[in-house]
Amino acid sequence: MARLVWITGASTGIGHATALAYARDGWTVAASARDATALATMAAGSAGRIHAFPLDVTDEPATLATHAAIEQALGQIDLAIFSAGTHLPVRLEPFETRAFRKLVEVNLMGVVYCLGAVLPAMTRRRGGQIAIVSSVAGYFGMPTAAAYSATKSALISLAQSLKFDCDRYGIALSVINPGFVRTPLTDKNEFPMPFLISAEEAAKRIVDGLAAKRFEITFPRRFALILKLIRLLPYGLFFPLVARGTRIEKP
Ligand SMILES: NC(=O)c1ccc[n+]([C@@H]2O[C@H](COP(=O)([O-])OP(=O)(O)OC[C@H]3O[C@@H](n4cnc5c(N)ncnc54)[C@H](OP(=O)(O)O)[C@@H]3O)[C@@H](O)[C@H]2O)c1
Repeated sequence: MARLVWITGASTGIGHATALAYARDGWTVAASARDATALATMAAGSAGRIHAFPLDVTDEPATLATHAAIEQALGQIDLAIFSAGTHLPVRLEPFETRAFRKLVEVNLMGVVYCLGAVLPAMTRRRGGQIAIVSSVAGYFGMPTAAAYSATKSALISLAQSLKFDCDRYGIALSVINPGFVRTPLTDKNEFPMPFLISAEEAAKRIVDGLAAKRFEITFPRRFALILKLIRLLPYGLFFPLVARGTRIEKP
């Protein structure tokens, strides 16, 4: 019988490419995002493999209802991939607290609500697999990403913390930390993006990493390694290096 994956953020970008990759591999895919039309178009071209379940992940009751609707229509979810997320830059003039609220609601609480939906059934049956899409921007505070990096490092900590209990319950938990991937999210960036890869390449790394049940799935590996080494530097070296690398200038 085909295995069932639930993917949030499936209307565009990494989530979309990952949904198509799993469908190609013969999985049944429950695809969620707010854009019902994009999901319906993807489902229509999938020969019945992809099913649209429109959802705003900031709505906790709707997230629980969507999860219930998926299990009722398609059966037990084997794998859940939480890719819904967004980015808003933060600057000092003006300093907009709104960006923090929005990113905490979508990137952090959106994942928390989805976990709240899938965990009861997975803990009951002592099995299942969950992947949280964070970012290498969660390794440390990146320039202009005070809100984004804060939510993404929160997701990494959340995943590390939950892994101890997930292991006890036989639930495979992963955190996915992409570097730069060409998607509608990064198309807005006006700076050079080192080691940029396609969403299709990202999806392939995700599918392979989850098949191997790796805890951290990060790509491109060389970029992630450089950032992990930078993270270890004393602040006296860290700040000038990151400022130079990202071309921060005086206001
Ligand atoms: N691209 C990169 O370089 C990169 C790097 C590191 C990490 N990431 C992470 O990868 C994930 C996917 O990003 P992407 O690059 O593929 O961006 P994207 O193309 O903008 O996709 C974001 C997805 O999230 C959905 N979404 C946004 N807000 C939502 C909400 N409130 N409820 C439900 N779905 C929502 C969007 O669909 P709707 O608008 O239809 O709701 C869309 O499907 C994000 O978590 C992002 O932070 C991306």
